Amino acid sequence: MLLHTIDDVRKIRKEWKNLKVGLVPTMGALHAGHLSLIKKAKEICDKVIVSVFVNPIQFGPSEDFDKYPRTLDKDYELCNENGVDIVFAPSPKEMYGDGQRLSNDTLTYVCPPFFYVNKLCGKTRTGHFDGVCTVVLKLFNIAQPDYAFFGQKDAQQAVIIRKMVKDLNVPVEIIQCPIVREESGLALSSRNKYLSEEGKKDALVLSKILKNIKACFEKGIDDITALKETAYSYLTDKHDLEYLEILDKDTLHEQEKADKNSIALIACRVENVRLIDNIYLGE
Ligand code: PAF
Repeated sequence: MLLHTIDDVRKIRKEWKNLKVGLVPTMGALHAGHLSLIKKAKEICDKVIVSVFVNPIQFGPSEDFDKYPRTLDKDYELCNENGVDIVFAPSPKEMYGDGQRLSNDTLTYVCPPFFYVNKLCGKTRTGHFDGVCTVVLKLFNIAQPDYAFFGQKDAQQAVIIRKMVKDLNVPVEIIQCPIVREESGLALSSRNKYLSEEGKKDALVLSKILKNIKACFEKGIDDITALKETAYSYLTDKHDLEYLEILDKDTLHEQEKADKNSIALIACRVENVRLIDNIYLGE
C-alpha cells in the first residue's frame, strides 16, 4: 500500500497495535542494500513500513538534493515484491509544512552531540546529522516502529541514531545490517548511479584500501598510523580522499591502537561523487 500522508500511516498503525512493526527509513532509489534491510525486517516483524523521502534538511546547499535519484514507481514495485506492507512517501510539505524556510530558525531540530558530528562525514557536511536525526525522529513518531533498520554502510549515522534513541528514550530497537557489495567489492549506494563505468572501477579503491587494512591488522599490525599509510599506494589522481580513520566502532572514539572493536572508515570522491565505505577489523 502506498501512502503519502502522516494521518493515513497513523490510522493503519493504530490497527496494528498488537503487532511488531518494523520501519526501514530510506531516501528511495532502492537497491540490494535496502532489500537486505527489508528482508531482515520481514524476518523479525509482523508488519513492515518503508519510508521513501529525500529529506531536504540533510543536504547542504551545494549538495545533490536536486539531482538525487527519485524512482518511486520502481521503489514501490520492489517493496511490493518483497512483502512490504506500507510504503510511506510523503512530500516535503507533508513533513515540514508549507512555506517554511527549512532552517533551525523556524523548525525544531534534533542536534546530536558535537563529539559525534564533528568528525568523519560531519566535518564537511555541516548540519547533515541534525537533518538526519530530525527526520528519523519524525519518522519514528509517525510510524511508531518497534524496530528500525539501518545499514552499516552509514556507520556514523547508525552510531548517532543509536545515541539519539538512547538519550531521548525513544522506544525503538535499532537493528544494523551488514554492507551489501557488488561482486567487485563496491559497496552499494544510490549515488553509484552517478558514476561512469570507468568511475566504478576507480571507486573499487575504497573497498580495496579497507580490505588491505583489515588484512594488515589480521597479520598483527595495530599501529593506526601504519595501517592508514597502507592506503597511499592505492590512491591516484582520480581519487580525492576526504578521510580515512580508524576508530572505536561503537563510540567513534579515537584509539591508541587498533583492536577487535575498531572500524576503518573512508570517504573519497571519484568523478566528484562522494563515496563512503567502512569495515570492521574484528569481524
Ligand atoms: O540513510 C539514509 O538513506 C537517510 O539518511 C535516512 C536515514 C533515510 C534519513 O533520511
